[in-house]
Amino acid sequence: MSMSKCQQLSSALFKQQGSFRMMSSWWSNVQQGPPDAILGVTEAFKRDKNPQKINLGVGAYRDDNGNPYVLPSVIQAEHNIMKKNLNKEYAPINGIAEFCTESIKLALSDNSPIVKNKCYASVQSISGTGALRVGGEFLQRYAPLKTIWVPIPTWGNHGQIFKFSGLEVKTYRYYDPKTCGLDFSGMIEDLSSAPTGSVILLHACAHNPTGVDPKPEQWKELSDLLKKKKLFPFFDMAYQGFASGNVDHDALAVHTFLLDGHQIALAQSFAKNMGLYGERVGMFTLTSLDTEEAERIMSQLKIVVRGMYSNPPIHGARLVSEILSNSQLKNQWMVEVKGMANRIISVRNKLKELLAKEGSTRNWNHITDQIGMFCYTGLEKDHVKKLIEEHSIYLTNDGRISMAGVTSKNVGYLASAMHKVTS
Ligand SMILES: Cc1ncc(COP(=O)(O)O)c(C=O)c1O
Repeated sequence: MSMSKCQQLSSALFKQQGSFRMMSSWWSNVQQGPPDAILGVTEAFKRDKNPQKINLGVGAYRDDNGNPYVLPSVIQAEHNIMKKNLNKEYAPINGIAEFCTESIKLALSDNSPIVKNKCYASVQSISGTGALRVGGEFLQRYAPLKTIWVPIPTWGNHGQIFKFSGLEVKTYRYYDPKTCGLDFSGMIEDLSSAPTGSVILLHACAHNPTGVDPKPEQWKELSDLLKKKKLFPFFDMAYQGFASGNVDHDALAVHTFLLDGHQIALAQSFAKNMGLYGERVGMFTLTSLDTEEAERIMSQLKIVVRGMYSNPPIHGARLVSEILSNSQLKNQWMVEVKGMANRIISVRNKLKELLAKEGSTRNWNHITDQIGMFCYTGLEKDHVKKLIEEHSIYLTNDGRISMAGVTSKNVGYLASAMHKVTS
């Protein structure tokens, strides 16, 4: 039987594809990249059949049943927005104006002179990561020195975000494994050696991964040092409100530096404090000397954004501005964010208490001294291996556990396993 026209064509196409496959690829030089350290933990967790398994790798809040949590204030904001019948037109390059105003007021406070005098330029960003990336790009173009100093350890993505921005990444000491606390003298010594004009990345609160923050008087000392040495502070504020339960308390470092007259860069994220992880809503800000300078900075930030992703997504920013601009909803959100922080603080206390009850003689004070989503347990690689292999408790290799994954139901199992692998 003779082939139809269509069959002839598809047979020719098939032959062509076959010969195409024989050719060497444009991408044969592409090497297999390593899996993401944190997402890899979740993959291994999913494969585990043990009903008692616990995932302490992921940095997302869970309720006391271990489930993802959508804040009731966010649900209410969704309803309010639905009723407004808004369209889906593009946002301006720098984002939704009301969102940007509310977001900067949250970080700097309502009566900040910088806000009142419009001495800042802010662009809505693709969550905190996007804010850091836009900031990195701007600094690579305009900072006097294209070098950024980040703490050791720091959030795993900082290094590549700034490298991809074209900045040189250097490190300063931050964490002391002996005390599971801050290596303040090491930090001061390293920052003192940074050349004038360097950018210093500071975690505004709830340092990730250690949960170790400088005390208020140490922030003041750091502010004085950076001023004296003419170093530029870039605050990464991914956890405002989530750390202590109080948004102003968590912004203390930023406020201290501003009161001291620093110009700052600021990356904000609403992933954790509003549970808007996948909505990707955040903001990048530079403070300026005056409004005219702010306008010039803004014009350049817009050029950066336009070339990277044109303009930001609208939904998450609408949710944030709906919550922050409505005093009743804002108060409700403040209670909810405090609720999340308090749950984390209470499981920290419980874990420490149960470790003592198990008979552990190790010093676990850092579990309650540290703050925010993460606890840098001080567990070593072989302890981590045993926790995973013998107890189905998943965490990153550096011994970091996400306290958000600990609940009143699994904290006993965790304490017992931690005691077993460390005794
Ligand atoms: C210190 C720090 N900065 C920034 C981010 C960015 O998060 P996102 O891009 O989800 O807002 C995170 C998230 O874990 C973080 O821990």
